[in-house]
Amino acid sequence: MSSRRTRPWWRHGVVYQIYPRSFLDTDGDGVGDLEGIRSRLDYLTWLGVDALWLSPIFRSPMADFGYDVADYCDVDPLFGSRAGFDRLLAEAHGRGLRVLLDWVPNHTSDQHPWFVESRAARTSPKRDWYVWRDPRPDGGPPNGWSAAFPPGTPAWTFDAATAQYYLHLFLAAQPDLDWRNPAVMAAMEAVLRFWLDRGVDGFRVDVVHALGKDPAMPDEPPHLAGIPHAVLNEHPSTHGILRRLRRLVDDYPGDRMLVGEVWLLLARSHAEYYGDGDELHLVFDLPAAVQTPWDADAWRTRVATVEASHGATRWPTWVLSNHDGMRHRSRFGSEARARAAALMLLTLRGTPFLYAGEELGLEDAAIAPDEVRDPGGRDGCRAPIPWASGPCHGWPRADPWLPWPPDAEIRNVEAEHADPASMLHLYRRALHLRRATSALSEGTLTLEHGPPGTLVYERTSPDERRRVLVNFTDAPIATDARGRVVLASDGAGEGAEFAGTLAPDQAIVLAPA
Ligand code: NOJ
Repeated sequence: MSSRRTRPWWRHGVVYQIYPRSFLDTDGDGVGDLEGIRSRLDYLTWLGVDALWLSPIFRSPMADFGYDVADYCDVDPLFGSRAGFDRLLAEAHGRGLRVLLDWVPNHTSDQHPWFVESRAARTSPKRDWYVWRDPRPDGGPPNGWSAAFPPGTPAWTFDAATAQYYLHLFLAAQPDLDWRNPAVMAAMEAVLRFWLDRGVDGFRVDVVHALGKDPAMPDEPPHLAGIPHAVLNEHPSTHGILRRLRRLVDDYPGDRMLVGEVWLLLARSHAEYYGDGDELHLVFDLPAAVQTPWDADAWRTRVATVEASHGATRWPTWVLSNHDGMRHRSRFGSEARARAAALMLLTLRGTPFLYAGEELGLEDAAIAPDEVRDPGGRDGCRAPIPWASGPCHGWPRADPWLPWPPDAEIRNVEAEHADPASMLHLYRRALHLRRATSALSEGTLTLEHGPPGTLVYERTSPDERRRVLVNFTDAPIATDARGRVVLASDGAGEGAEFAGTLAPDQAIVLAPA
């Protein structure tokens, strides 16, 4: 227990990601808001998470639903106000919940006053805050980089008035900032200070690996042509930027932190973004985190890779779902698998990040062509959270901005709260077990040799030992493991001596007998 007092909260805590549009609406516009989050803080403490990460709440034209920021220091009226945020933060802190904001430093909205000014003239004082280049001799874009969305579009848009192209690794409405410019760094440092001074506990940093770019802007090698540059860009200058941001955040008291989204297809190693403990506090190892299939060998390789690349000093993160891809309940294909995965997520060595609604076992919503909202095709995982049964599911209206996820009549907070065997109660029990067991929250991890089709690991702290067994197959598997079942993904045999056979798609936590 002594480590609890000395180690920062983000090493043993669990973070819960909220997509504010979809969490809970209170003003009846069909879009979730800060008041909806504030009104459910008791639910989140009951569940047992330690921190909230709010996807962007800043002023935005919402071309990418907040990942296109027009004012980093104000709250979009759709979500509420700065005063409303201060209240949410104070009430969260009052319950011991930390709050992380989602900071989007790679690009702004094209409506941000910085870009409006930059675009106004080649001689604008802010021209070099963004990446402007002349056309090629044939009038085409400066290089062949592709944008992330819409798929297959160039990462450059021509500005006819000033006869140059600007770079955007995402939508044309999301121009990339030029982080080589010290004025950009200074402006963004002021943004971080603004929120840190208000008391936020840190930031999830959007596409952090894209900040530094090769100034020569070379074309992709031919075999990578057409792949969005956002998932290929890996330039060493990013690390200098991160060291500077880290110093700024660490100057604040109270374990403020940065967790970076690193979404690279061909990364040398995602763990490089921790630096030598002088860059990001935590790093998302995407896309492996959200794409590893339901397969024992794939997970064994993944855990072994994370252990080897992180070592003792770089604390890993674990994620199964977020707002950018299919929910893992849909990806893995069954409730039993989602339950076993939850138990694994909450017992691996590292900080787990939950995506709101996974504790209910939500699947992606089916989106009809006329219901599509996202230019990146990610609406399914962003469906509103059903809080109750009945046509409105606890929202003020039955027709929020996206359709409800499947089975919302039974897969909702109210119904699952009333059912001790529900997914919701499994998450709660796993979160509470993790909190109460130093081996699970902070211990070392050793991979063991289980039977084919299983993943077996041991977590050890100075005073505790727990073994986790996961069956990735749809058949029972006999093992020679012994001990007392402290938690089972299907609830079977808890409190009793383990009989030795794992049920199909079952995960269990064993304590020494
Ligand atoms: C990653 C975010 O998670 C995603 O939702 C967004 O579209 C892109 N970055 C661009 O900001």
